[in-house]
Amino acid sequence: MLRVAIDGPGGTGKSTIAKAVAERFGLEYIDTGAMYRALGLKALRNGVDAADEEAVRGMLAETSIDFVGGQTHLDGEDVSGLIRTNEISMAASNISKLAIVRAKVDEVSRHLASTKDVVMEGRDIGTTVIPDAEVKIFMTASPEIRAKRRYDQLLAAGKEADYEKIFKETQQRDYQDSHREVSPLRQAEDAVLLDTSDMTLEENIDAVADLISSITGRSA
Ligand code: DC
Repeated sequence: MLRVAIDGPGGTGKSTIAKAVAERFGLEYIDTGAMYRALGLKALRNGVDAADEEAVRGMLAETSIDFVGGQTHLDGEDVSGLIRTNEISMAASNISKLAIVRAKVDEVSRHLASTKDVVMEGRDIGTTVIPDAEVKIFMTASPEIRAKRRYDQLLAAGKEADYEKIFKETQQRDYQDSHREVSPLRQAEDAVLLDTSDMTLEENIDAVADLISSITGRSA
């Protein structure tokens, strides 16, 4: 069994790297943030206030989340193309504060990790979701570089982007994700810290692949 947990704040390149590494080692890639994003999207669509625990509980009871061929499905609808906006980033961060929401996402995540070898990416995988993961990595990068990466991502996707606004939102989301009561973003004591500020994407992928190989003895 091989479970690779990759945690860290937004914009560190976690998703791209986790995906590439999963492909190299033949592992399943699981993006837990996509589940919080899908729930944030549903709350926005249905006018459910993320601070209203009872309303969110009602919503969760009627919600299914699935990964089908790498795409995120919310109640059977492929929402992958709708959940990468700044608005949904904040909605996801807001709704992820609630313990009932985290319990739902944790259940789906743990089930997936029990059936296959995975690279799972998020904020609390190494601390809470799979604390006994064979490989734990905590990725960071400076706030400026992370905001710039988000900005470039949005532009590349043909979306509107305002760097100053993204920088402020990045800081707000970091603060919120690191200061919530339940499973805040933090490095697990036994996670390897990887600062990606000065790494190219290729260097970053190689660094993670080397770590996996040296810890597990598996080659890519
Ligand atoms: O990784 P991301 O940017 O797609 O995550 C969106 C939000 O979801 C993030 O701001 C906080 C929340 N999240 C979380 O609380 N725990 C996780 N394991 C993954 C994401």
